[in-house]
Amino acid sequence: VPSDAEISALIAPHLALEGPLLPILHDIQARFGHVPDRAQPLIAEALNISKAEVHGVVSFYHDFREVPAGRHVVKICRAEACQAMGGAALAEQTLARLGIGWHGTTANGAVTVEPVYCLGLCACAPAAMVDDKVVGRVDAARMDALLREVGA
Ligand code: FES
Repeated sequence: VPSDAEISALIAPHLALEGPLLPILHDIQARFGHVPDRAQPLIAEALNISKAEVHGVVSFYHDFREVPAGRHVVKICRAEACQAMGGAALAEQTLARLGIGWHGTTANGAVTVEPVYCLGLCACAPAAMVDDKVVGRVDAARMDALLREVGA
């Protein structure tokens, strides 16, 4: 668990800037992999805004996590071209196989699944991403193999 001092050290460099909230949240997430609960009141206090305001921003931007992700992040494309090529069914099967919902993490902590909106791989739809690797033409069997590789 990060200490208040560690969190405050990430807040301080941004205080003189205009619009410091997003850069602060980005730095905190980069450091800890998520924005810990404890960080929100500290940020609110430092910026003289309400905790609700900080929480609103954290929950509005899906890039920010409120809980740590699994060891691997699988993103499944939900944009149009992929939807037209079976992306919705692929997503449903994947979530059902893992027993989680969007943004959920498997009980063994191996995988978090998130939606993504176009990976620039529309010609090879449906597309997905495993950590920083983009994969095209993903069907149920391919997804199953990818999930096995990352321990899910
Ligand atoms: Fe899925 Fe572009 S719509 S990669």
